[in-house]
Amino acid sequence: MTILNNISLKEYNTFGVECYAKRFVSIDSFYDLQQLLKTEKDLFLLSGGSNILLTKDIEKLVVLINIKGISIDRENKNTVHLTVNSGENWHEFVLWCISQDYGGLENLSLIPGNVGTCPIQNIGAYGVEVKDTITKVEAIEIETGKLITFANAECQFGYRNSIFKNDVKGKYIITSVSFELTKTNHQLNTSYGAIEVALQEKKITNPTIKDVSDAVISIRKSKLPDPKEIGNSGSFFKNPVISTEQFLQLQKEYPAIPSYKISEATTKVPAGWLVEQCGFKGKRFGDAGVHEKQALVLVNYANASGLEIYNLAKSIQQTVFNKFKIDLEIEVNII
Ligand code: EPU
Repeated sequence: MTILNNISLKEYNTFGVECYAKRFVSIDSFYDLQQLLKTEKDLFLLSGGSNILLTKDIEKLVVLINIKGISIDRENKNTVHLTVNSGENWHEFVLWCISQDYGGLENLSLIPGNVGTCPIQNIGAYGVEVKDTITKVEAIEIETGKLITFANAECQFGYRNSIFKNDVKGKYIITSVSFELTKTNHQLNTSYGAIEVALQEKKITNPTIKDVSDAVISIRKSKLPDPKEIGNSGSFFKNPVISTEQFLQLQKEYPAIPSYKISEATTKVPAGWLVEQCGFKGKRFGDAGVHEKQALVLVNYANASGLEIYNLAKSIQQTVFNKFKIDLEIEVNII
């Protein structure tokens, strides 16, 4: 464990924004983490860097959580319980599960980031959220160095939300996440329109978890930019939930507005649609831009600064508010 000085974070954030860490350390074992916490408490935790927008250099000690390892806790004929250390890459873990025929995570294929951060924003895609398979999350309390277990119910999972973004934000370092996955009778979730279409195109009537994963991978590749090619952080905004009353008013003016009913009183509308209606889709401002195939994704074409991207986000929020009277909430962590 060596603390390095003045390290560029460009390759550690999927936006590919150039910012510097005054001090930087990569941690690859629990032991090193516990040792570090004896002397350092004021930390900036970095994982896959897939949900942050860096707008300035980091003064705190940047700690890259790189603890690897997957273990099988127990299994029977039907299910397997796994514990996965934080530093494992999410998509590689999903692919490994599929190779073992462990079901439950196939719809979450190709999501950037690491396992340790998946519970923080309760990653979700194509009708599945990671909370549906998580049994517990283990985390070290920064103040005391104690290992604490959060059972699924204690994580207070919601849409792109959990206790780790709220009550205990900044107090814990997630060290591992445990999952319960299926070995037989996989509960496939193919109801999401685009998955059905992708399976039909391949004439697959009785899909395996690998077929579903392949379908998700091809849909994501067709809509979402690969961070290795164009810097981005996935959905930049959350899909807003508005009152059904406001939704019905909007629908009169915009009959094509897509929506998902949340309850009698509330309706979710896709932020991507709102941003597109405001004319931002595919627009480029210097090296910052809005993706041409999915208006919910802001991109860094090459050398945009975090501030340029943030300013673009603010101007999108303002324009969407002026047109629709809807507040778009930023989903990415602005640093
Ligand atoms: N839409 C537009 N214009 C756009 C983008 C979308 O009109 O530029 C419309 C689509 O036509 C569709 C609706 O919006 O009617 C929904 O679009 P899509 O299916 O692409 O999903 P989304 O709601 O925009 C959410 C997640 C994604 C996830 C997809 C698929 C959030 C904030 N985003 O996007 O998650 O992959 O559903 O399940 O909930 C991420 O979090 O980084 C992410 C990519």
